[in-house]
Amino acid sequence: MRFRNKHLRPVKRCRPSLLIWSIIGIVLLFHLYTLNQMQSNQIQPPIYYSDQNSITKELETVEEEALHVTTARSRRNPRAVRRKGSQKPPTIIDEFLDKSTEVHELFFPDMTRAINPLAEGNDSTGYFYPGQIWLDTDGKPIQAHGGGILYDEGTRMYYWYGENKDGPTYLAHQNAAARVDVIGVSCYSSKDLWSWRNEGIVLRGEEKDETHDLHKSNVLERPKVIYNDITKTYVMWMHIDNANYSKASVGVATSQNPTGPFQYLYSMQPHGCESRDMTIFKDDNGKAYLIYSSEDNTELHVSPFTDDYLNTSNEFRRIFVRRHREAPALFKFQGIYYMITSGCTGWAPNSALAHAAESMMGPWETLGNPCMGGNVIFRHTTYFSQSTFVLPLPGLPGLFIFMADRWNPANLRESRYVWLPLAIGGVSDETLEYSFGFPLWPRVSIYWHKRWRLPDGWRDL
Ligand SMILES: *[C@@H]1O[C@H](CO)[C@@H](O)[C@H](O)[C@H]1NC(C)=O
Ligand SMILES: *[C@@H]1O[C@H](CO)[C@@H](O)[C@H](O)[C@H]1NC(C)=O
Ligand SMILES: *[C@@H]1O[C@H](CO)[C@@H](O)[C@H](O)[C@H]1NC(C)=O
Repeated sequence: MRFRNKHLRPVKRCRPSLLIWSIIGIVLLFHLYTLNQMQSNQIQPPIYYSDQNSITKELETVEEEALHVTTARSRRNPRAVRRKGSQKPPTIIDEFLDKSTEVHELFFPDMTRAINPLAEGNDSTGYFYPGQIWLDTDGKPIQAHGGGILYDEGTRMYYWYGENKDGPTYLAHQNAAARVDVIGVSCYSSKDLWSWRNEGIVLRGEEKDETHDLHKSNVLERPKVIYNDITKTYVMWMHIDNANYSKASVGVATSQNPTGPFQYLYSMQPHGCESRDMTIFKDDNGKAYLIYSSEDNTELHVSPFTDDYLNTSNEFRRIFVRRHREAPALFKFQGIYYMITSGCTGWAPNSALAHAAESMMGPWETLGNPCMGGNVIFRHTTYFSQSTFVLPLPGLPGLFIFMADRWNPANLRESRYVWLPLAIGGVSDETLEYSFGFPLWPRVSIYWHKRWRLPDGWRDL
């Protein structure tokens, strides 16, 4: 109280000088601001791909897109409102998830607009169309959800592994998440990343043995494969769970061949912790890591594998504690590790975040939402999709393909793939937590395109 009285009196007396000081303060602040601007203009982030700049410029163009659904939503979709049984109009995400709405149709275009590698002389050849049905070289929709890609040095081929969800969607019980019985892990091969040949199911679900991890009543998600140079083995890791997601484990399978068949070994809870959404990452030096959502999806754990990639080592690190992140996708550029994650909202889409670290074991910094272009709803829903993998393009340093799933919980086999160019460069737009602004992490940007393609001859650039 005494302090307050003392403080008040002089303020009252000094009103005119307070005004002068305020003006001086403002002028000073303005100077500081312009100085800061000048400095930040001088400290340009490194330009990573000067020679590829013209080639990738088109992919890094910010493409805006309006969503023409507002009137249709309120006037023509009484069903969606009725379903909710409330006065509150459904959000665009509600409608996106509701298969009776026009919004749903817009985001899940039918077979007539499928990407078809067999269509000869079609001017769409080589173009990725995020969200459209994607046919393999047999003319069948690709079934490789929650997937990842292995580049095989031996065959110079790309292999895309993912969940085969080509079965009926149902609810195991009331309030359960929509599911499809375990069918297995599909594999597709390609040289150009656009036309994919079906290599079949390389790890099959189990029909009879109910005690088996891969029994059809269980859950197999997010399979990823890396090659172990020491044991010359292809190693697959995947999320293994039961129908109510209480097993929260990670499973491993191996093969001598990228196209399988993979031999299932076992599942485990790494370090005795829950493991749900997960991915694996193989570093340049051959060291590989398991990254998994744990502690009720409130945090991620990073753990190095043993040298044979068949177990985690004793070491692990908790990251993004209490941040509730899942769907991790890892990549590396110029010695820095990057990660894209999603929030935890079941099958509903949410905002992605990009993160960076100088070491896999952290500390990890959050850089902000990487989505660029489209519109504000696209950017807040990761283009109505969820991250699953980020694929480097060796001929185009700094450029990657961001792979995501546009889940359709009304019919999971109808979930779509959203592939978009991801570029590293520019200054990140979130303040950093521990480093007072240093180091200057580059921005991670995922660019929206309605249709896009890789530059000609990208493999040999
Ligand atoms: C070419 O393919 C696209 C998408 O795959 C399709 O929408 C279009 O109708 C096709 N055009 C022709 C001429 O076949
Ligand atoms: C989840 O399912 C397993 C068997 O599938 C059962 O043993 C367990 O009690 C269930 N847990 C809950 C919380 O329902
Ligand atoms: C994995 O490593 C842990 C810790 O060393 C060990 O307890 C466990 O038995 C190992 N699991 C397998 C399947 O080898």
